[in-house]
Amino acid sequence: MSEDLLGGGLFDPEGVIDREAESELFETMLALGHDARVLTVSDKGFMGKSTLLKKFEYRCQWITPYFPVSLTDIDANRLDDQTPFGLVGKIRADISDLSFPKFDPARDAHAGQDFSFFAPATGTGIASASSVSGGVLAGRIGTVIQTPSATIAPATSATWTLDMDRRARERCVEAFFEDLRAICADQTVVVILDTFDNARLELQQWIVKVLLRHHIVDERFACDRLLVVLAGRELPNLNPALGRRLQSIGVLSSWDKEHIRSFLQKQGVDPSDVAIDFVQELLADGKNLLSALSVARELRRITT
Ligand SMILES: Nc1ncnc2c1ncn2[C@@H]1O[C@H](COP(=O)(O)OP(=O)(O)OP(=O)(O)O)[C@@H](O)[C@H]1O
Ligand SMILES: [Mg+2]
Repeated sequence: MSEDLLGGGLFDPEGVIDREAESELFETMLALGHDARVLTVSDKGFMGKSTLLKKFEYRCQWITPYFPVSLTDIDANRLDDQTPFGLVGKIRADISDLSFPKFDPARDAHAGQDFSFFAPATGTGIASASSVSGGVLAGRIGTVIQTPSATIAPATSATWTLDMDRRARERCVEAFFEDLRAICADQTVVVILDTFDNARLELQQWIVKVLLRHHIVDERFACDRLLVVLAGRELPNLNPALGRRLQSIGVLSSWDKEHIRSFLQKQGVDPSDVAIDFVQELLADGKNLLSALSVARELRRITT
């Protein structure tokens, strides 16, 4: 995982060099200009994927028309709760302006260990929870979460079992998607997931099989205006599964000399024309931005 060479702090969109082509593609997706609802961004390390995603987030938050947006780095070292429940909770917190009438009470009931809220299906008209298959939460869709059944006494924390916890979390995830589906019927929502390749395998599988397959591709359960952006150094080949729903950026666009000059200047290096040519060659040879920057700094050190 790269550190912010720009020095951390608040994101400054003016510090981002280029990325016009990528932004244009994103803009077309925001306008629902074609069928694609998933954008993948893959490239090697230190090439600017996370920077691009922050630019996307900024665009959604600060430029009209605005779009509800959630950006999450799902690296296992950064997103503590690597379960679907953990991820949807983070997304919901990011899009706090929206209303989640099913998810919010379910989440609160889970937090309060009130299992009566998650009454079992038998005799209550409540559909079953997500099933676990092959180690992956398959995420059954369409479950209705109802108010507590009178026949079931509220569980106290002393009787809150791991199984109850698992089932309650599954119901919360189902409720999240019911709400999201209702929201996305007439509103575009953008979910951006960074560092896909460093998430736990189970979460990666859930993202592909449940988030993308059920909620983007499968027309029975799709959230119509949900856009998902996935980034990582290595991404699975989603083309066969997603087809017309997928747009891919395989490699970020290469920079001309002026882009390189601006990049180096923003990093505090005032480059000579020779240094710019050299950096351009390094990038063309497959070196990343960090290596190119180190070389430019070294060149500057030995020539001054
Ligand atoms: N378009 C850009 N304009 C200016 N600086 C950039 C740009 N892209 C990347 N950088 C600089 O390069 C550093 C590395 O970029 P970034 O973290 O976005 O790479 P990454 O592809 O996400 O890397 P990793 O695979 O390690 O996560 C950033 O901290 C930023 O300072
Ligand atoms: Mg990154």
